[in-house]
Amino acid sequence: MTSSGGQGTVLRNIGMLARCLQDAEPDDASELPHAAVAWVDGQIVWVGPEVELPAAYGTWPTLDAEGQLVIPGLVDCHTHLTFGGDRADEFESRLRGASYESLAEAGGGIHATVRATRESDFETLLLTGQRNLERMISRGVTVVEAKSGYGLDCETELRQLQVYRHLGNTSGIEVVPTFLGAHTVPKEYQSHRDEYLAFLLQEMIPRVAEEGLARFVDVFIEGGAFSVDEARQVLGVAKGAGLGTKVHADQLSPGGGAELAAEMGAVSADHLEQVSAAGMRAMRDRGVVAVSLPIASLTLGVRPLPARQLLAAGVQVAVATDCNPGSAPAGDLQLAIYLACVAQRMTPAEAVRGATIEAARAVGLGDEVGSIEVGKRANFAVVNGTTVQNWLYLFRLGPVRRTVAFGETVWSSECAIAG
Ligand code: NIG
Ligand code: FE
Repeated sequence: MTSSGGQGTVLRNIGMLARCLQDAEPDDASELPHAAVAWVDGQIVWVGPEVELPAAYGTWPTLDAEGQLVIPGLVDCHTHLTFGGDRADEFESRLRGASYESLAEAGGGIHATVRATRESDFETLLLTGQRNLERMISRGVTVVEAKSGYGLDCETELRQLQVYRHLGNTSGIEVVPTFLGAHTVPKEYQSHRDEYLAFLLQEMIPRVAEEGLARFVDVFIEGGAFSVDEARQVLGVAKGAGLGTKVHADQLSPGGGAELAAEMGAVSADHLEQVSAAGMRAMRDRGVVAVSLPIASLTLGVRPLPARQLLAAGVQVAVATDCNPGSAPAGDLQLAIYLACVAQRMTPAEAVRGATIEAARAVGLGDEVGSIEVGKRANFAVVNGTTVQNWLYLFRLGPVRRTVAFGETVWSSECAIAG
């Protein structure tokens, strides 16, 4: 394959290239030793053994992978990227025995973050989003899905989404915005929840779609949040408005969330710690990606999603951070990938595919990012390690040497370490 003619860039001296090919099996990271990758205008034009690099690319500027492992740029396909305040007090309360649900019932949990987010102006939310994003980029992330859902009123929901638009325009990586007005029913509507639902269906979803502020609509199906019937209405209106759909499903109790995600043709069902066998089958039949969030499972002390059963049933399993102030403040995708192995028993290849090509599918970008093949976006991370297996076995903090998005270096270990 030859380039379009313009001068590009070549990544050379790759010790091991984990291509995570789109059509490979879940347990195959498609590793290629001693490889090189060439790209032009942010798009990959050649991938292969370095000794076979066509002469035409030999004169192009190079980046040196220093003999290390190169993986596709990571995709964090489930985050609540910005919010007001923090919930360190609840972290300690839970360690002392309080449950996540009891804290929410007492006005904490999501409600506490809603209060703090409503009080935060655009600049404050932008700063939090920027800090989270910078840390993610330093961990090799090149695409981030970002949910609203801590405003639960028109003004604050739009502010969160506008922050995401700004971050998408300025960060050098892609930010995929999701409207999560159906995160929970806000306190002021608790005695007349039908009105909040009507507000979402009649005002918010049409407005978000009209202003192009979100690509997906998500809904939290849970006892303290929304029922399956309410969620069906939310997802139905979202589809009618031309938006993709996602579901927070079966996290704390088995609630038919996976089945609804399949019925509505959602791109993903996320959490799934309590997914039923029927839910797994329905997801496989409709090609719904299962998004595992092992940091949240571990933080809340619940059994992780049954990755082995999902994979055996033929469901694609992605891995994401769930970065949020309550159940996943760590927000570190390297950690999530490691936990996918040790807590969910995914193999190293399944786990890295989970945070690359499967995660790309979970945000509708499976044809553009998530694997290293000709025609895909030039998104990579150079990681300390000799193989995928060796990198995850060692699990060192800060293993990323360089992050490349749209063909440009957006972070390298020579930069200051992000916190
Ligand atoms: O994905 N499950 C619901 N929402 C978030 C947690 C939100 C919060 O606690 O602030 C989650 O875990
Ligand atoms: Fe979440």
